[in-house]
Amino acid sequence: RDTLEQSTFDRPAEADWFQYRLKHEDGTSKARRGEFVTPHGAVQTPAFMPVGTQGTVKGLEIGMVRQTGAEMILGNTYHLSLRPGDDIVAELGGLHRFMDWQGPILTDSGGFQIFSLAQMRKITEKEAIFQSHIDGRKIHLSPERSIEIQENLGSDIAMVLDHVVELPNETKVIREAMDRSIRWAKRCQDAASRKDQAQFAIVQGGLDESLRVECAERLAELNFPGYAIGGLSVGEPPPEMYRILDATCPTLPANKPRYLMGVGRPEDLLEGIRRGVDLFDCVMPTRNGRNALAFTDEGTVRLRNAKHQRDPTPLDSKSVPQVAGLSRAYFRHLFMAKEMLGPILLSLHNVAYYQRLMREARQAIEEDRFEAYYEQKMAGWSSGG
Ligand code: GUN
Repeated sequence: RDTLEQSTFDRPAEADWFQYRLKHEDGTSKARRGEFVTPHGAVQTPAFMPVGTQGTVKGLEIGMVRQTGAEMILGNTYHLSLRPGDDIVAELGGLHRFMDWQGPILTDSGGFQIFSLAQMRKITEKEAIFQSHIDGRKIHLSPERSIEIQENLGSDIAMVLDHVVELPNETKVIREAMDRSIRWAKRCQDAASRKDQAQFAIVQGGLDESLRVECAERLAELNFPGYAIGGLSVGEPPPEMYRILDATCPTLPANKPRYLMGVGRPEDLLEGIRRGVDLFDCVMPTRNGRNALAFTDEGTVRLRNAKHQRDPTPLDSKSVPQVAGLSRAYFRHLFMAKEMLGPILLSLHNVAYYQRLMREARQAIEEDRFEAYYEQKMAGWSSGG
């Protein structure tokens, strides 16, 4: 389409892997247009990663994932180590080969899943101990073991193991978890043995701006190739998250990618981008797709709603070819009849919608009109069709 979408790393030398290149800064906001390259290819940023927790982006065969324009996907240490087991994935050639995804993969460390899924968890300085949500088995996950699992999976980017706490919480508890997360980040760094895998550190610190700034500064000293902002989108009001981004982004190194974990709605993505975030992941497009909720330029559409029974309007005429010709009435019918095509096609549509949003955002940044683009999208989403 244009020169900036073309990777500037034609044949990446090993030394260029994971190096972030800031290609252009928007003239109207803090939005950044960049690129980083991995052993499995380059990623144009801002970018959104569909979530492939169990070695599958739920409902989509791998060609569909590619078709959406997604360049990088997310996998999970926690789930894949419990089932089928990271040793088995390694034996079968690693996660790329196992699921036949040839592009870049980022794996989360398990920190957030211990917090959200595991039962009877106990965190010590050495490790997290918890019961598997699948069979109740007692699991030990240390920073070193998290890196061993992620090296077995063979992801391009591994996340450090972090200690996530629920919010709101006492400052003392948030600080202790933050301090531990920084010590664990260092242990992850020391445990690394693969040159073809980069590690991203995770900024914690709850909703306290001074803790966030301190955490970002201390992690920046460890010189990671990328930085994530974690512990957000856990039930706090969105303006609180934006306030934390305002405080954290300027503290992070400008020459490294910034990844906002587990976020979010289309408006959260644009709110993140205009504050300087480069990378996102979220289950929302696939989870909502399975649940008959569609993302469109006029906002979300509940396709089970009776008002769509005789609705001939296309869900989104700009969607992928498999969806562009289908009416809202047909989608409603598929969901009411519990046909598997409904969740499949709507997951495809939603992931493609998120990817289109990121393409448009990248172009708007290149043309120094991100704020106008943001205003236009926000107005459309609140128009309610
Ligand atoms: N996914 C969403 N939030 C987080 C977080 O704070 N830590 C990790 N490891 N993963 C996340």
